[in-house]
Amino acid sequence: MSNVTTALDIIASKAPGFKADVAIVLGSGLGGVVDAIRDAIKIDYKDLPGFPVPTVHGHGGQLVLGQIGSVSVAVMQGRAHYYEHARSDLMAEPLETLRDLGADQLILTNAAGSLLPDATPGNLMLITDHISMFGPNPLIGYRGDDRFVGMDVPYDPQIGSGLHAAASELGIKLFEGTYCWCTGPSFETPAEIKMLKVLGADAVGMSTVPECILARRLGFKVAGVSNITNMAAGMSATPLSHEQTLEMSKEGSANLIRILVHYFSRSA
Ligand code: HPA
Repeated sequence: MSNVTTALDIIASKAPGFKADVAIVLGSGLGGVVDAIRDAIKIDYKDLPGFPVPTVHGHGGQLVLGQIGSVSVAVMQGRAHYYEHARSDLMAEPLETLRDLGADQLILTNAAGSLLPDATPGNLMLITDHISMFGPNPLIGYRGDDRFVGMDVPYDPQIGSGLHAAASELGIKLFEGTYCWCTGPSFETPAEIKMLKVLGADAVGMSTVPECILARRLGFKVAGVSNITNMAAGMSATPLSHEQTLEMSKEGSANLIRILVHYFSRSA
């Protein structure tokens, strides 16, 4: 037996017998989702080998285990981004840990800029597809044929329709569209946004796509929701900044919490 302590060992000691149904990754300004978790057990990433300690303001850095409705959830409050360490595979070990806890669904959330004129700040967008061309694929360097992950259905239509149903029962508009991953950390230019529009992007952000690719290799069913915090560069007069992202995340975040809680109580 190996005497290396893993994240799973630590979790087993702090939350004996805990099994997850669903894993969730929370993006900038979305940490409030954890307030909806009952019997929450919180473990700092710094105590979990392989978990990335976030360097971004607004990203909590805790794994939270507990229940929403009757669903057992493992929630990552905060993530690692490619732009922090120039590595796109930093979420590989945490996602493996979440899978080993039993989760087979993964809900990825993020803050994003909108290219859809009607999806204004405060709105939410279900991610139905993505564009990943600007940063390295997180599976580069993996060995084995399972690195050739099929990405023809990156986001699970069944979870998507469950989230749509939950949103419409609550009277919350849920847009849908294609999310484009740009590496950041600088925001895009107006010319880049015009180009991305031609390429088919509906929202733009700095995360989620590498996690979706890693998660599909691990067999997760994946869903993604963008919290629209701003119109993409050149589409509004408001200058883009991280402070604005955090400030504008509040309305969408409150609605996303309501949708998730309702989704989990519906799927019980
Ligand atoms: N671009 C990239 N990432 C973002 C944006 C944006 O406009 N808004 C929030 N995250």
